[in-house]
Amino acid sequence: MQYVASTSRFSVPVLGIGVGYRVPHYQQVVEERPELDWFEILSENHMTEGGSPRWYLEQLAERYPVVPHGVSLSLGGAQDPEHLRRLRSLVDFLHPPWFSDHLCWTGTREHRVHDLLPLPYTPAIRDGVVERIRRVQGEVGRLLAVENVSAYLNYKDSTVAEWDFLGEVAEAADCAILLDVNNIFVSACNLGFDPMIYLDGLPLDRVVQVHLAGHSVFPKYRLDTHDHPVCDEVWALYRELVRRIGPVSTLIEWDGNIPPFERLQEEVATARFHQDQALKERR
Ligand SMILES: [Fe+2]
Repeated sequence: MQYVASTSRFSVPVLGIGVGYRVPHYQQVVEERPELDWFEILSENHMTEGGSPRWYLEQLAERYPVVPHGVSLSLGGAQDPEHLRRLRSLVDFLHPPWFSDHLCWTGTREHRVHDLLPLPYTPAIRDGVVERIRRVQGEVGRLLAVENVSAYLNYKDSTVAEWDFLGEVAEAADCAILLDVNNIFVSACNLGFDPMIYLDGLPLDRVVQVHLAGHSVFPKYRLDTHDHPVCDEVWALYRELVRRIGPVSTLIEWDGNIPPFERLQEEVATARFHQDQALKERR
């Protein structure tokens, strides 16, 4: 069932709990049409007018709500006009309630690093990002949800905390937030802050979607690898978020050591359990 969250400032549906559409599962999903609320796709994998990626997307979109999620918009750097044109075409095909990408930079117009690099959190960077988000939302013609990335280092130049920066950007650009709860926890462990402070500092009425994922633990840091189940601490943080904002569109990301689709459905069931528990605790 889809409904609009009462705590959200945007009139967008709560899609339920979904998973990322990944190549190893394309055939099974198309053939078996498993029970699932919604799917997220990697935008860059489906920005073609034809071919097999488009065919598998068309099959998916016939049966499920689909939201495009990008990794190369580079809101902290320069946008490629051709990329924006193709993104608009994808969004026009899917008619999603929002599309998403990351609060990061991925290189210059000439040199892309194919990584989601955090930004220095300064007023000048904020103003540039706000201007780009406004332009991207205008050119794509849809609400953009901006996602927090995981971090491993702080910039000396940053003058505000990440959560303040993200909140200021979202308010000034009038965009939505895709809150990656695993990224908050990974960054909190790596940089030494309390993840609850992150939730305290955000305009939570702008959160339209949540990402949940697993990560790898090393002796001195945690790495956002999306190749494990969601850990207990991230489930606890998710529950706290749902206690604060109510039902929210939630997406399980699993991009490495991708398990059978049935294992993803188990993770969806676990997310549903935690969301239901948090909603009971909220009353
Ligand atoms: Fe994410």
